[in-house]
Amino acid sequence: MPHSSSASLVPAFDRGGFADRVIRWQLRSGRHSLPWQATQDAYRIWLSEIMLQQTQVVAVLNYYSRFLERFPTLSVLAAATLDEVMPFWAGLGYYSRARNLWACAREIQVRYGGQFPSDPALLEALPGIGRSTAGAIAALAFGRRAAILDGNVRRVLSRVFGIEGDLTQGTVLREAWSLAEDLLPRGDGIGPYTQGLMDLGATVCTRARPRCEACPLASDCIARIEDRIRDLPQARRRAARPTREQRWLVLRQASSIWLERRPERGIWGGLWSLPELELCADVMQSIRHRGLNPKGLQDLPVIEHGFTHFVLRAYPIEVEVQGGSPDYAVQTAPPHGQWLDLDEATSKALPKPVADLLRTLCK
Ligand code: ADE
Repeated sequence: MPHSSSASLVPAFDRGGFADRVIRWQLRSGRHSLPWQATQDAYRIWLSEIMLQQTQVVAVLNYYSRFLERFPTLSVLAAATLDEVMPFWAGLGYYSRARNLWACAREIQVRYGGQFPSDPALLEALPGIGRSTAGAIAALAFGRRAAILDGNVRRVLSRVFGIEGDLTQGTVLREAWSLAEDLLPRGDGIGPYTQGLMDLGATVCTRARPRCEACPLASDCIARIEDRIRDLPQARRRAARPTREQRWLVLRQASSIWLERRPERGIWGGLWSLPELELCADVMQSIRHRGLNPKGLQDLPVIEHGFTHFVLRAYPIEVEVQGGSPDYAVQTAPPHGQWLDLDEATSKALPKPVADLLRTLCK
């Protein structure tokens, strides 16, 4: 792995010293009152780890408690339909997580009699659980000696050990995993160690303004010693995200609005959303083709929404219509669309930009 100065990846502190410092720091200065820390229940820990993938703690807290109120145990979740689960995820983003969560609950129910396996390799074979999430669940719920390597931990390791290159891919990733495993505590403390690495990354070794004065690893941190904090970890080389443009039809009839449930696969799978058209399509004609009679049209403000691989630019147009249900929606795969009162519509599982748009219509 490319790194500076030392032939060993582990600088002044020996490997045990690294874990000891992280554990001691976590016990004294880490986070202790996050709701998923108050339990050893694998179900609750798993749920938190899935919600926290690519999502910050503050955004997760309310979703987490609402979800657990409705689905307090794995068996309750496994007995629910996906349609019952989606509203509890709406707005949190990355909806494949909710589909996988639900599929995972069912698989654990069927294959393991409702009990989570504690072996990281078995956990990793379940839907929605990658290697780092499997490590986190195994360590936090079962005290297993398993490594994690999420974005926060990659940042800590890359700085402390001066690791250059892209830690998300290829050889550098493989070597980072092997380092993460070498660094695990030899004795007790895998729980606080795992939580400590996450806490350090989230609260001290932050991307933009790390608080090195509060870091237990600072005295041996290569990035700090060599004044390379700003350069590590190296920015990922990301292809520029393409922009996809589309028209959104906000079909109104009296006090109702037309929403359609999106197919399970693809973006916003299983959520309710607005009908989409190619930007070049003739709006009036498309609406008439579908057996509706358009009256007034009004352009609404353009909406941009970032996905990992593209940016969606939507041009919503509000159309007052007469005449039943749009035929085309009835032809799409079930379940179909519905006319809904605005209040009812906003209580459906909606993508965030659609929820925001409907809220502006309520005013
Ligand atoms: N991010 C991922 N897992 C976490 C956890 N257990 N606590 C806080 N942030 C996290």
